[in-house]
Amino acid sequence: MGASVVLLELAEGWVAVVTGASCGIGAAISRQLAAAGAKVAMAARRENLLKEIQDEISKEGGVALAVRCDVKNRAGVKELIQYTERTLGPVDILVNNAGYWAFRCMKNLHEEEWDEQVDVNVKGLLNCIGAVISGMCERKSGHIVNMSSDCVKQPFVGLAVYAGSKYFLEGMSRTLRQEVCKDGVRVTCVQPGDVDTPGAVKTLMTLEDEQCKALYSYPHPALEPEVIAQAVLYAVAQPDHVAVNEILVEPRECPL
Ligand SMILES: NC(=O)c1ccc[n+]([C@@H]2O[C@H](COP(=O)([O-])OP(=O)(O)OC[C@H]3O[C@@H](n4cnc5c(N)ncnc54)[C@H](OP(=O)(O)O)[C@@H]3O)[C@@H](O)[C@H]2O)c1
Repeated sequence: MGASVVLLELAEGWVAVVTGASCGIGAAISRQLAAAGAKVAMAARRENLLKEIQDEISKEGGVALAVRCDVKNRAGVKELIQYTERTLGPVDILVNNAGYWAFRCMKNLHEEEWDEQVDVNVKGLLNCIGAVISGMCERKSGHIVNMSSDCVKQPFVGLAVYAGSKYFLEGMSRTLRQEVCKDGVRVTCVQPGDVDTPGAVKTLMTLEDEQCKALYSYPHPALEPEVIAQAVLYAVAQPDHVAVNEILVEPRECPL
């Protein structure tokens, strides 16, 4: 059975920003948030892909903006949020989904890839939160959804730097939640297991060490991106006093 889509309704006129929306999980989240009634600003570097998804959403009667943005660029992220707020209204939901990873053994010193994972998954995440958090606290309302990974529950060979970046995401989220819950802001971490996305396929090509290859070279089931989008929708559609703080979603056959 494929991934069925059960739509929940969001409060009318909600504005969402989704990073990493040009493909994979972020594209699925954008489509489902729009179908549930949110106005969605979709951000990524590949504007042509964003525009295709924007057209699809518009044809379905939804509202979406395609905004070229590299989350590593702090000024660019601020412009993304300002443009969204001028065009659609104050941001109610920020989904920090943009991410980068590679299966590399640390002893092989792929230092440029270490930097990219830290720059996108850690600093990019902070750039995005920094651009919305004061506004959300002032308005006493907001929801930040951070895309984590099941690698924070179990180590996977070849993903040391990536796991480190997702541990940062989890620790920061738990602490931020303590700080902003009284300001009406919710923080959710979604921890997917294997999901079938362009990034996941590309990343398997980076397997480089025999131990690493042996671990990942068997066929294993992966989830559809829509399943993760449903988890995000579930979290953001809850009544104001309910906080879904953590969601672990894995293929049934691959429990940790
Ligand atoms: N797939 C899985 O099995 C899995 C499992 C656990 C967690 N996750 C997490 O889920 C999230 C999405 O993964 P995915 O599998 O959908 O990956 P994907 O297919 O590689 O998509 C990644 C998205 O992030 C965007 N992105 C990358 N670097 C960016 C940057 N510097 N600025 C703006 N956007 C950037 C890409 O867009 P552009 O290239 O157009 O910029 C793309 O839209 C990631 O945070 C990942 O860590 C995935």
